[in-house]
Amino acid sequence: MFKPFLLLFAVAMFAFLPASAPAGPPQEKTPAASAQKSSGKPNAQLQAKAKGLYQIDCALCHGASGDGKTDVAKDMGLSLADWTDPKSLADKQDQVLFDTIRSGKGKMPAEAEGRAPNDVVWNLISYIRNMSKGQPAPATEGSTPATPPAPNN
Ligand code: HEC
Repeated sequence: MFKPFLLLFAVAMFAFLPASAPAGPPQEKTPAASAQKSSGKPNAQLQAKAKGLYQIDCALCHGASGDGKTDVAKDMGLSLADWTDPKSLADKQDQVLFDTIRSGKGKMPAEAEGRAPNDVVWNLISYIRNMSKGQPAPATEGSTPATPPAPNN
């Protein structure tokens, strides 16, 4: 069961984990802890599940890349945030995203717990947040790209 591929994946997960990992007070041990972020431990299985679920339940509106430019969004008249832009979710807390996914909002349908348990929702959130990784750092939009000469790599 110790496939190199899995190991690689786990390592990749570490790289994806935001440095802003929760440093919350350790004493909060409520019974409702299951709704809390499960410490963001890298878990390849949950990540894979979240990714698969995203393709099925979310991509039709939000797009596989998360840019929100889909036919469904157009047809429904939705104006969706472009998650490939790091700024789009910067001011939104994880808990807010969690509640939106779990309860729905406006025209977005709720994701039932039977379909996406809390753990999976947290992984969906990190999956979504990672959509802006690997993008050029916050660029000034609208203006002609004044890109400095990039090194050839
Ligand atoms: C029917 C289209 C649709 C589907 C399917 C859908 N969403 Fe959304 N989603 C929306 C709309 C519309 C909003 C904006 C809601 C608002 O602010 O009124 C939204 C907002 C969000 C937000 C809040 C952040 C933001 O960009 O506004 C998150 C997070 C999110 N969706 C995640 C998901 C996930 C995860 C799934 C799949 C489990 C999903 N969505 C499926 C339409 C959809």
